[in-house]
Amino acid sequence: MKSIKERTRLLELDKKHLWHPFTQEQEWHNEPVLMIERARGNYLIDTEGKSYLDGVSSLWVTVHGHGKKELNDAIRAQLNKVAHTTLLGLSSVPSAALAARLAGITPKGLTRVFYSDSGSTAVEIALKVSFQYWDQVKEKNKKKKFIAFTGAYHGDTVGAMSVGEISGFVKKFQPLLFKAFRAPYPYCYRCPLDRTPKGCSMACLGEFESILKKHSESIAACIIEPLVQGAAGMITAPRGFLWGVRRLTKKYNVHLICDEVATGFGRTGKMFASEHENVRPDIMCLAKGITGGYLPLAVTLFTEEIYNAFLGAATSKKAFLHGHTYTGNPLACAAALASLDIFKDEKVLEGVVQKAALLRTLLRTLKKSAHVGDVRQRGLMAGVELVADKKTKKPFAPALRTGHRVCMDTRQYGLIIRPLGDTIVLMPPLSITESELREMVDIIGASLNRVLP
Ligand SMILES: Cc1ncc(COP(=O)(O)O)c(C=O)c1O
Repeated sequence: MKSIKERTRLLELDKKHLWHPFTQEQEWHNEPVLMIERARGNYLIDTEGKSYLDGVSSLWVTVHGHGKKELNDAIRAQLNKVAHTTLLGLSSVPSAALAARLAGITPKGLTRVFYSDSGSTAVEIALKVSFQYWDQVKEKNKKKKFIAFTGAYHGDTVGAMSVGEISGFVKKFQPLLFKAFRAPYPYCYRCPLDRTPKGCSMACLGEFESILKKHSESIAACIIEPLVQGAAGMITAPRGFLWGVRRLTKKYNVHLICDEVATGFGRTGKMFASEHENVRPDIMCLAKGITGGYLPLAVTLFTEEIYNAFLGAATSKKAFLHGHTYTGNPLACAAALASLDIFKDEKVLEGVVQKAALLRTLLRTLKKSAHVGDVRQRGLMAGVELVADKKTKKPFAPALRTGHRVCMDTRQYGLIIRPLGDTIVLMPPLSITESELREMVDIIGASLNRVLP
């Protein structure tokens, strides 16, 4: 806890020197700033000593809670050995050990691990490798394009934005981006094809196949957020959709990239969302929860077949010439190894399944609220979509910033959550307790009544 004088000074420093991500700074300067100083378990603690339930896992990363002893100890132990060393021309103990562990737990066939440091870089690497692969294995190769889905979000770097489609994020940068084919993601609540939810999955797969039928000769890879499109507003795909995408990408000889940056590491109740439909992608992107939410680390996993296409003599020009300075950072890899141990020792996945069932029950009460249009959930990731009119699903005017107002209100009552437009996102740490889950949903219910009486 800081003195009033110190708090005032720190807040001035923030307003004077910080530039916050995804933030209109002019508004930021007029709003009260919540400054976090410490954290314990599933709570963040501000400079005044007030506690807040971390309802978004510090942007979808915290897995086992804050200040987890095993993670702290693993990082300290690694710190006493070496904090950083490069993977360019060298290897390191935790980076080799983690690569093997990941190859052992990800869907069968993924054997090669390429490190980077964020979800966006993991996606860039996936796209570049697929592009180069076809160039090296196919004569007269035309496979130079990608297919992605409506509403997709894969990160903020230029390649990741090109396969993304959330207009607010990418529209401004359109002239910088390459064009991707776009197939409909089954957003049943606001069906992109105007179908009933029942036929939705098949209709979307039909659209997907017709693009592949026409253009697969020019498509290197398809990238998908398996089961849930997070940033689009927690859009949950009907069962069988992912499996259908895998079947069709195989049929038309197109790589499947599963972007599990948001869904990986237990979020949906299995270690990876692809497992729900027994899908084995050719390429998988992981980041966010990989270190338990402690340090920036990402990986892109590949099959041996893809890896082999990059082998050749030093002069063959077949190597993948890409890498980031902190690639495979030993501290981050040590944290990731310790996090995987916790998954096993504390039977984390079993806990997620139980807690997800409770969350489903709790969310039923929210669904009754006059301005809740839809509730979507997979495991411990959920979205509560607010609408002006429940019957017609008419959205609120964006200028009202309804989602934002609800989230600012919950803060007064000790819960930090963030909206995606007018969808309230619930993404608590997997370590959240049942009573904390109840507390979270109770606070949101009360805030809805206050903000939208
Ligand atoms: C599915 C998905 N891919 C990629 C990213 C980008 O990750 P990062 O913010 O670490 O670059 C995100 C971030 O939310 C994501 O949800």
